[in-house]
Amino acid sequence: MSTPEHVEGRTFDVPPPQPPGVPRASVELSLAPHAAPHDEDAAEQEAGEIGPTGRVLRFTADPEPVARHGPAKILAICNQKGGVGKTTSTINLGASLAEYGRKVLLVDFDPQGALSVGLGIHPHQLDQTIYNVIMERAVGVQDVIMETGVEDMHLLPSNIDLSAAEIQLVSEVGREHTLVRTLRPVIDDYDYVLVDCQPSLGLLTVNALAAADGVLIPLECEFFSLRGVALLIDTIEKVRERLNPKLEITGIVATMYDPRTLHSREVMARVVEAFGDIVFDTVINRTVRFPETTVAGEPITKWAPRSAGAKAYRALAREVIAR
Ligand SMILES: Nc1ncnc2c1ncn2[C@@H]1O[C@H](COP(=O)(O)OP(=O)(O)OP(=O)(O)O)[C@@H](O)[C@H]1O
Ligand SMILES: [Mg+2]
Repeated sequence: MSTPEHVEGRTFDVPPPQPPGVPRASVELSLAPHAAPHDEDAAEQEAGEIGPTGRVLRFTADPEPVARHGPAKILAICNQKGGVGKTTSTINLGASLAEYGRKVLLVDFDPQGALSVGLGIHPHQLDQTIYNVIMERAVGVQDVIMETGVEDMHLLPSNIDLSAAEIQLVSEVGREHTLVRTLRPVIDDYDYVLVDCQPSLGLLTVNALAAADGVLIPLECEFFSLRGVALLIDTIEKVRERLNPKLEITGIVATMYDPRTLHSREVMARVVEAFGDIVFDTVINRTVRFPETTVAGEPITKWAPRSAGAKAYRALAREVIAR
């Protein structure tokens, strides 16, 4: 039972004190299972207008349906800076690609398991994850892939076990090509495989880059974000030279953009100046809707389908398909 506590006339529910040595149950957040009622029908940006990147928006038509699926294009969603929107972009880009009729596999390649959590899965309760596929010959990738709440979007989940793989792989032959070997049996079943990387440039991320056709870099519209990108691009170039000649930078997507602040607009201008055409026209605004979707355990395209955030990720999906 919780006891109310009074602070300056307001009442808060305070959990009772725990006896020493008893671990506290993890706090479960929950929201109503339905999309929030105040679904804003935000104005979509029209082709021909000047977009937030300062360039004229190009028109990206709705993609043609595909007649048959596969082989998949593998995209690593990568930035060694933490909290820039890698996982959010993986989930919502994946769901948008699935809405356009593409078959999508999301690979949780971060031992934190945030991608799995964001899809409503409790990764610590799973018997088998990507770790088992990587480390145990007897476990096939098909045995571990799960369905999600989005049709045609599947998940290869991970949990904290994956952090052990990073250490165990160091002494393996061909350690950088572990992920590509893992994905090979299912590559023909999907149109896109999106790999959500951890915030580091360690062996797991190098595996993702060695497996990928392209890298998608989410970049938070914040001054310090620019600092790490040179190192990331340097790493991508090394992987291209030494491990994976087909690797390209698919694009940079600006995230957490706040059009009301001069700071966001200045950072955006610097990003476009530095990286030019690889910056997607689509920019993801900062909105509380994204943290809400994590709690809800579903993509924004389902949670708030008509919101500006859902429209932005659909626009990003159209650009990704067109590139
Ligand atoms: N456009 C956005 N506006 C507001 N909040 C956002 C936006 N995108 C993501 N977030 C929130 O910011 C936090 C970090 O996002 P996310 O987990 O996607 O980043 P990440 O790069 O995967 O982080 P990590 O490096 O820890 O893996 C989350 O709470 C997420 O809900
Ligand atoms: Mg993440």
